Amino acid sequence: MSATTTSPEQNTALRQFVWSRLGTVLALAPLGVWVVLHLWNNLAAFQGAEAWQASVTTHRHPVAAAITWVVVLLPLALHTVWGLARSLKARPNNARYGYFGNLRFLLQRVSALGVLGFVGAHLWLAFLRPRLVEGHAERFVDIAHEMRTHPPTLVVYLLGTLGVAFHLANGIATSAMAFGIGTTQLSQKRMERLALVLLVVFLGMAWGAVYALYRAGV
Ligand code: HEM
Repeated sequence: MSATTTSPEQNTALRQFVWSRLGTVLALAPLGVWVVLHLWNNLAAFQGAEAWQASVTTHRHPVAAAITWVVVLLPLALHTVWGLARSLKARPNNARYGYFGNLRFLLQRVSALGVLGFVGAHLWLAFLRPRLVEGHAERFVDIAHEMRTHPPTLVVYLLGTLGVAFHLANGIATSAMAFGIGTTQLSQKRMERLALVLLVVFLGMAWGAVYALYRAGV
């Protein structure tokens, strides 16, 4: 075999490596970046209907709207397939080894299932249904009314965004290892602290927006 040809085993290993990194990279950007921006934009709910509508549901150009959704929904679909495949291969051993790292491994997968259910429902109820069935984007008064008067909606948003905040914060910290960061014991401790700080920040933004919508609901 010449120095430039690759064996079938090398090709398989390369494919597995690319697939493994692809799921991670897509989850961080554009998906993770977009989720943080989306949470930030929703905080406009504190400034009332017009500000929220301008910041969350209005796109300056229909093409920009279409590109945004391709850039978000395609990585989400790919990351979901990637994540489900990894979850099916996982063999949690938390009963035998009660380490914190093992708990995080399990919670990453449990939160993924919660995020899948929440994001699916959220995409249908807040994005597609208003546009396809009612002929307009989600209205501030409608979502604020639901948040205020329909307790299941409030609970689902609180728990769903808790799942997203944990999954993203923990995912950012654990995926650093894939890029050679956080490989020593000390840096792993630092990554644990980073995950906690990110969790508090993301949850603060998400629950802040939920509170602002609840407060504005009649
Ligand atoms: C809001 C949507 C989501 C975001 C922003 C997101 C973000 C992330 C990030 C940043 C990671 C770390 C990457 C890594 O571990 O290499 C990750 C890991 C993971 N995600 Fe997601 N994710 C989302 C939705 C989902 C969904 C819907 C599923 C599947 C049902 C899923 C399953 C997983 C799994 C199983 C892991 C762990 C992979 C591992 O540790 O080997 N994620 N996610």
